[in-house]
Amino acid sequence: MRRILITGATGAIGGALAEIYAAPGVELHLHGRNAAKLLAIQARCVALGARVVLQSLDLRNIAALRLWLNELCATQALDLVIVNAGMNTDIGPEGKGEPWEDVDALIDINLKASMAMVHAVLPAMRRQGSGQIALLSSLAGYFGLPVTPAYCASKAGIKAYGEALRGWLGPEGIRVNVIMPGYVESPMCEAMPGPKPFLWQPDRAARLIQRGLSKDRARISFPFPLNLGTWFLAVLPAAVSLRILSLLGYRG
Ligand SMILES: NC(=O)c1ccc[n+]([C@@H]2O[C@H](COP(=O)([O-])OP(=O)(O)OC[C@H]3O[C@@H](n4cnc5c(N)ncnc54)[C@H](OP(=O)(O)O)[C@@H]3O)[C@@H](O)[C@H]2O)c1
Repeated sequence: MRRILITGATGAIGGALAEIYAAPGVELHLHGRNAAKLLAIQARCVALGARVVLQSLDLRNIAALRLWLNELCATQALDLVIVNAGMNTDIGPEGKGEPWEDVDALIDINLKASMAMVHAVLPAMRRQGSGQIALLSSLAGYFGLPVTPAYCASKAGIKAYGEALRGWLGPEGIRVNVIMPGYVESPMCEAMPGPKPFLWQPDRAARLIQRGLSKDRARISFPFPLNLGTWFLAVLPAAVSLRILSLLGYRG
């Protein structure tokens, strides 16, 4: 039985990933807080032949998160862990700034909980010399967008963390992949300020992510034009990149 864990399975990308991986011979551990959405995604995945186990906890509760994962990994490592749940904040329509409570929660969820998950699932993977961890970063991790400073910081952090883990753990047989989506239709994406070029549907994003993970690509970034553009922002002098972003409408 292939054991796959996905956090944020109640969200757009997480839900689409759950359905893509749902198949006979797969045990899906699906996480999310919204009970109704979690039950709905469970029903869809069971209909596709998967065994589904649900978990509903707030990722800010690191102790509960660690307990859950330690139990899951007690006798056997998970085969694939997709660290997907996340949140966003922005500086607001008048550029007032991000409320500290939101920034605090965002760092806890996007960065701290993600790293805590890796810490909890890794010992069993290292004992077995196998396993795969996929970390959801974002194209917003290449260069900071003025409208979403904390989000960009968290996604740049996850990108660097995943790259470092891959270099460290690859020789042990553990695959770590950094996923950098552009705009994918979801409640979080909808709430983001600024233009949203090359918007993808979640199932298209999930298909590409699954292909990238099966080929063990170090970085799974899409769509191509936005990937190139945002990558270039990190290469150009920062002053030039900021000017470009301002002209494109990502200004404070
Ligand atoms: N959509 C995009 O354009 C885009 C682009 C780049 C990267 N990403 C990344 O892709 C990932 C998924 O995003 P999405 O667009 O699918 O977002 P989404 O539809 O808004 O889903 C967010 C998910 O995170 C969960 N979550 C949020 N806060 C949580 C908390 N405190 N405790 C537990 N779960 C929590 C939500 O659970 P509940 O709803 O059940 O509370 C939900 O399942 C995120 O890491 C995001 O940063 C998205």
